[in-house]
Amino acid sequence: MDNMLLADNIQIKTLVVIGLGLIGGSLAAGLKKNNAARQVIGIDRVRDSCEKALAMGIVDRAEVSLAAVAGELGEGDVIFIAVPTLSVKNILQQIKDAKITGQVTITDGASVKGSVCNDVQQVYGELPLNFVPGHPIAGSERSGVDAADPHLYQQHRVILTPLHRQSAEAERHFERVRAMWQALGAEVVTMDVAEHDHILGATSHLPHVIAFSLVDTLAHDSNSKNIFRYAAGGFRDFTRIASSDAIMWRDIMLANKPSVLAAIDLFSKNLAALRGAVEAENATEITGVFTRAKVARDRFITMLSHQAYSKTMQNTKQNRQYQVAPGGKMRGEFRVPGDKSISHRAIMLGSLAEGVTDIEGFLEGEDALATLQAFRDMGVVIEGPVNGRVKVHGVGLRGLQPPSDVLYLGNSGTSMRLLCGILSGQSFSSEVVGDDSLNKRPMNRIAKPLRDMGAQIDTQAEGKPPLKIHGGQALKAISYAMPMASAQVKSCLLLAGLYAEGLTQVTEPAPTRDHTERMLRGFGYPVQREGDTVSLASGGRLQATSIDVPADISSASFFMVAAAIAPGSDITLTHVGVNPTRTGVINILNLMGANINLLNLREVGGEPVADIRVQYAPLQGIEIPEAQVPLAIDEFPALLVAAACAEGTTVLSGAEELRVKETDRIQAMADGLRTLGINCETKADGIVVQGGQLGGGTVESADDHRIAMSFTIAALRASGPITVNNCANVATSFPHFDQLAKMAGISLEVIDS
Ligand code: S3P
Repeated sequence: MDNMLLADNIQIKTLVVIGLGLIGGSLAAGLKKNNAARQVIGIDRVRDSCEKALAMGIVDRAEVSLAAVAGELGEGDVIFIAVPTLSVKNILQQIKDAKITGQVTITDGASVKGSVCNDVQQVYGELPLNFVPGHPIAGSERSGVDAADPHLYQQHRVILTPLHRQSAEAERHFERVRAMWQALGAEVVTMDVAEHDHILGATSHLPHVIAFSLVDTLAHDSNSKNIFRYAAGGFRDFTRIASSDAIMWRDIMLANKPSVLAAIDLFSKNLAALRGAVEAENATEITGVFTRAKVARDRFITMLSHQAYSKTMQNTKQNRQYQVAPGGKMRGEFRVPGDKSISHRAIMLGSLAEGVTDIEGFLEGEDALATLQAFRDMGVVIEGPVNGRVKVHGVGLRGLQPPSDVLYLGNSGTSMRLLCGILSGQSFSSEVVGDDSLNKRPMNRIAKPLRDMGAQIDTQAEGKPPLKIHGGQALKAISYAMPMASAQVKSCLLLAGLYAEGLTQVTEPAPTRDHTERMLRGFGYPVQREGDTVSLASGGRLQATSIDVPADISSASFFMVAAAIAPGSDITLTHVGVNPTRTGVINILNLMGANINLLNLREVGGEPVADIRVQYAPLQGIEIPEAQVPLAIDEFPALLVAAACAEGTTVLSGAEELRVKETDRIQAMADGLRTLGINCETKADGIVVQGGQLGGGTVESADDHRIAMSFTIAALRASGPITVNNCANVATSFPHFDQLAKMAGISLEVIDS
């Protein structure tokens, strides 16, 4: 490898590192190791450091003064200033005095960029085009050239704060510095100087202040010997950075004074509040701080390790593949995860209630977690989830706090639509945003009627998210006849109705799931239903309660269809919610000839629940009654697999809503079924499927959890293996689907690439 920087015609001829400490020594060592510079020269006024660097082989040449090499430098050369922040000015003066040409790129690694730019301005009277401020976010509590590590910057971030992006000459210098860091395996990001200093003040400089101060405080406690004797791993972890170079950090504090002061002030205020909560024995407030902190740190760790979790799930672009061997049968007794619709509503109503709501059986999938996080972001203290248990410390209808950032709702349409109803009634403004799929879904269906109620909502073109909701509007009740059968629209308007003057009435063209109405009543809030119209008046209150979330019939449906199509199957799905507004899947499978029995029918917390036994029986194609469509709206991907395995033709009509789910589910199912050798024909409002022999092949989930799971179960009846691409989104509704599917009898392998 002659030169890694030849790409884009960028190369470093000579790299001059001024300051052979950990930072400078590691850059020199890395570039030498990768042969990414033709020559590396180290400059350090301490002769011993020069000798060590030479002996370690991390420089080709070492000098105690820049003057010794200045005359040799020109185009293609880079000077890296790696001295403590407050010494940068002195080095800049030396560079200027040495009359180094403007063709040489100059960059630095100081932790504070504002002070460095001031120094440059003072020395040069301007900010020269060849100066590119930088800051590698890597380090160690070790210091000195002996600690130099060629891998120090690998997979670490380097922040560059370029000063002149408009000039081609400046851009050339910038690209050269960027390429230099990339050659070491670092990730280069850019931002402006003030933003850099503010962020680092909070995330790096403040923790150092706290660590140094804490250790100093305890070290001077009269009992310090004893204290340290009993200090265990936690103390060690927490104070590791107090072993860092004291003088360097002193300089950083002074150089970044305004941002450091702001960070210390904010922290002092919050620490005082926490002290107050301890003094007042305010357990809820303490829980709030600790749970929020835990979630924030867990997220941050997940983000760093690039694992799938909410926002990062979309960003990592990982292709999770399901590879499923053909054949098999379903056996056993299982409980699938909690109902998604009910889990969302439990968090929402629990948050708006007075008192503490205990939830059991909560779905720990990404969608419901997005709702949970949104309410945490609005100041609600929520404990858990731990094994499906969540404790929501309700704040009352008027107790939500303005979120400090946009509310990120991932893949979850239910979160966004229902939340918009609540947000429209708040005194504060807010913004909601989703992942790529959610940001393409229609929101005018809620924005229009909410505006009729007096809400002020901005959408993107064609009513797409992100949405901005302007707070402080006085809502007025409306009577609204929904143009489509949508439980999300109905629920959104009822939730807005809690804040609207008068009686809010919603009429549905066909029955849709009624969990919102049932749960509102469970929280002691009166809701009336007359025919197909639901209504509620504002002015009431929600009283905290306990909620036992049944297993989700939508998740159960994959196992129901699996057992219905695979000869020899006999499974029982326990504690499944069988609310009549959700049992379309059972009705449709029964019409097709499936053998399904509901056992132990009972009522739990206002929702009917049963154990569902499914035994294999041959299926026949049918014309699906349109009245069943809203009652099985999420189950059609699975039901279309049943149709493919049935004898004869199945016709689905009146299901245009399927085209605006997480993906266009009619198209995605048609594409996949055809790939597997099934004849089908799409219509604007449905699909016609000819039953036949499923073959093997590779199909796309279209990033839709239900499409992914449907093609997985199809393998039970396929003649060859089926590979389903992009299955990461299964985690939105059915965490651990793969494990349960394997236990039940599906030969599934998960491949991440
Ligand atoms: C849901 C309602 C349905 C459904 C979605 C959950 C709910 O959407 O598809 O998965 O919890 O209210 P629509 O109301 O848009 O049909």
